[in-house]
Amino acid sequence: MSDSPRLPIAIVAAMHEELAALLAQMPDEQRIHVAGRDYWVGHLQGQLVVAVLSRIGKVAAATTATVLMERFGVRAIVFTGVAGGLAPGVDVGDVVVATRLLQHDLDASPIFPKYEVPLTGHARFAADTAISDALAVVAADLLSDPVTLLGEKVVEDFKLTAPKVHRGLLVSGDRFVSTSAESEALRLALPDALAVEMEGAAVAQVCHDYGVPFAAVRTISDRADDAAHGDFTRFVSAVASRYSLAVIDAWLATLPTDAPATI
Ligand code: ADE
Repeated sequence: MSDSPRLPIAIVAAMHEELAALLAQMPDEQRIHVAGRDYWVGHLQGQLVVAVLSRIGKVAAATTATVLMERFGVRAIVFTGVAGGLAPGVDVGDVVVATRLLQHDLDASPIFPKYEVPLTGHARFAADTAISDALAVVAADLLSDPVTLLGEKVVEDFKLTAPKVHRGLLVSGDRFVSTSAESEALRLALPDALAVEMEGAAVAQVCHDYGVPFAAVRTISDRADDAAHGDFTRFVSAVASRYSLAVIDAWLATLPTDAPATI
């Protein structure tokens, strides 16, 4: 992250429940409406932040990221949300911190290699190492005691006894992957993919274009298989939103604080 203390950090959520949990902790937030979205500017853990709901899908996420650059001049974007686990051992209730992000539904072959974003030379966009390292550290610490974070009943209901943090490739596409056949096809095509979601790689591409650091932290809500739709909404409000808030909060608390500022 650059040393521009007065520029805000963007926290982007794909789902309403997660944004609501963040906003509840931002006492001074101001709403700025741009291109159909509400951008909430305020302080969290003494840091100037812009929190926004990207909505779902790559185009919605890319639009949101572009506004964050052009209108708010953000110094970093952190995306928080849920994902479907792909790799063996990436289980419901685990957290994935991306090291690289790829669009699994992008294929301009034979003109460009499969998955490559045409004219960039990249298929895998790197997440910012310093931010991702710090997010992984705070996530591991929080997950070491899920009962304190979520309560006994939620931990039991969702069988979250030993949640883990994983780091690696996160893949994004404009599809909710909800059949075992599709997740198996993704595993075969991209054996190192840890999890699948619908926004991260698009935001990573925009951040790459602007030279702004990006990180993504995702709670595994399902295994992207035939059972992927079950209990999704309840999981997001009972587990993922609480993880997101706790991880973002704990990470922001590790950063040097700014003097209160307006933009
Ligand atoms: N986000 C959470 N679970 C997902 C899935 N199975 N496919 C795509 N995005 C997701």
